[in-house]
Amino acid sequence: SETGCLSIVVLGASGDLAKKKTFPALFNLYRQGFLQSNEVHIFGYARTKISDDDLRNRIRSYLEKGSAKSEEVSEFLQLIKYVSGSYDTEGGFRMLDKEISLHEEFRNSTEGSSRRLFYLALPPSVYPVVCRMIKLCCMNKSHLGGWTRIVVEKPFGKDLDSAEKLSNQIGELFEEPQLYRIDHYLGKELVQNLLVLRFANRFFLPLWNRDNIDNVQIVFREDFGTEGRGGYFDEYGIIRDIIQNHLLQVLCLVAMEKPVSLKPEHIRDEKVKVRVSNTSLTHFSFPVMPIKDEEVVLGQYNGYRDDPTVPDHSNTPTFATVVLRIHNERWEGVPFILKAGKALNSRKAEIRIQFKDVPGDIFRLFSCLGKNQGRNEFVIRLQPSEAMYMKLTVKQPGLEMSTVQSELDLSYGQRYQQVTIPEAYERLILDTNYGRLQI
Ligand code: BG6
Repeated sequence: SETGCLSIVVLGASGDLAKKKTFPALFNLYRQGFLQSNEVHIFGYARTKISDDDLRNRIRSYLEKGSAKSEEVSEFLQLIKYVSGSYDTEGGFRMLDKEISLHEEFRNSTEGSSRRLFYLALPPSVYPVVCRMIKLCCMNKSHLGGWTRIVVEKPFGKDLDSAEKLSNQIGELFEEPQLYRIDHYLGKELVQNLLVLRFANRFFLPLWNRDNIDNVQIVFREDFGTEGRGGYFDEYGIIRDIIQNHLLQVLCLVAMEKPVSLKPEHIRDEKVKVRVSNTSLTHFSFPVMPIKDEEVVLGQYNGYRDDPTVPDHSNTPTFATVVLRIHNERWEGVPFILKAGKALNSRKAEIRIQFKDVPGDIFRLFSCLGKNQGRNEFVIRLQPSEAMYMKLTVKQPGLEMSTVQSELDLSYGQRYQQVTIPEAYERLILDTNYGRLQI
């Protein structure tokens, strides 16, 4: 791995994402020794005019959770410097560059190259201008080598046109290997596990298809609403916020064919093929069929419009169910039911693979339910409490011959008691630093 000075710049440092996810992830990496205080420095950048200490105080409470000691938090906060400036003029970015350079000169008096990671915790409307400013004012100039990388997140545009436009605008400024479009669901432990599960287990290989699977459900529920993020959320809605990004990424990993190797490009190619395939040199087909109106349900939770950041007459959906159908040899006829909702009664994200009924069932009369056996189901719970379990039919223990549904259960909290499961963002930030996103 590379050595030398690493500057992590969080743009939008006073925003929701930075406070709740980015800084806590950086802190956890620091605690685990992945960010060494003798080579890393963190810069927060935003428009608000506040001091270094103001920023540190704002994020402190988000770090002082779990087992974190307050000295550790203070040590970490000392690594953070704040620079204020606008997103569309050079002044602030020149100042930022000066601060980064000062820090690099100081560190590089000993050895190593300089790495600059810009994390855009910002609304996408300012991505292009911010990227232009970075290109103009803040690129790594060290003769000792190193890199400049940009991390962006969804929503990446509002539709295909705006996404392509954004992609082109940023693409003119940076080479592809400098750009990291991340989706934090891909950093979740059980999403990362999908590849292993599917392709390293003889159990699943022959069953993972239309002959055996009746339907696949990919579900996201949250038990809180917009909570002040209405300004952002209302413009995008649940489909762009959760379904077209997080759930679709999961769907690709569930539905794709085996990649030829674990190289990120090979995995990416297979994921893309779930959605687009070359049928000849000039023709493409789209295995995912257009979604039918009657296979979409939209809803909005009561009280959504009471959020002061939401317009009074908004009809933005906060709940959606859509059925996707993949027109290929493996999945023809199997509905993929994607569901997402905010402000529901529980918080859960899971994948449910429901198998078809057993043909010629001879146990019907013996079932405790007095009807058909329950179906086999394989559930992968991404959160909370990561787990995988298989629902299956067994004999009810005892003298009688009757059947009952039971579970083979692999709950991570029990099985891996000594292991702390990393937060999604920790893994992704580490990956961008090493120069690769695995999936
Ligand atoms: C974000 C969405 O991408 O994911 C939020 O913008 C949502 O609306 C969040 O709350 C959920 O992430 P997680 O990791 O808490 O499930």
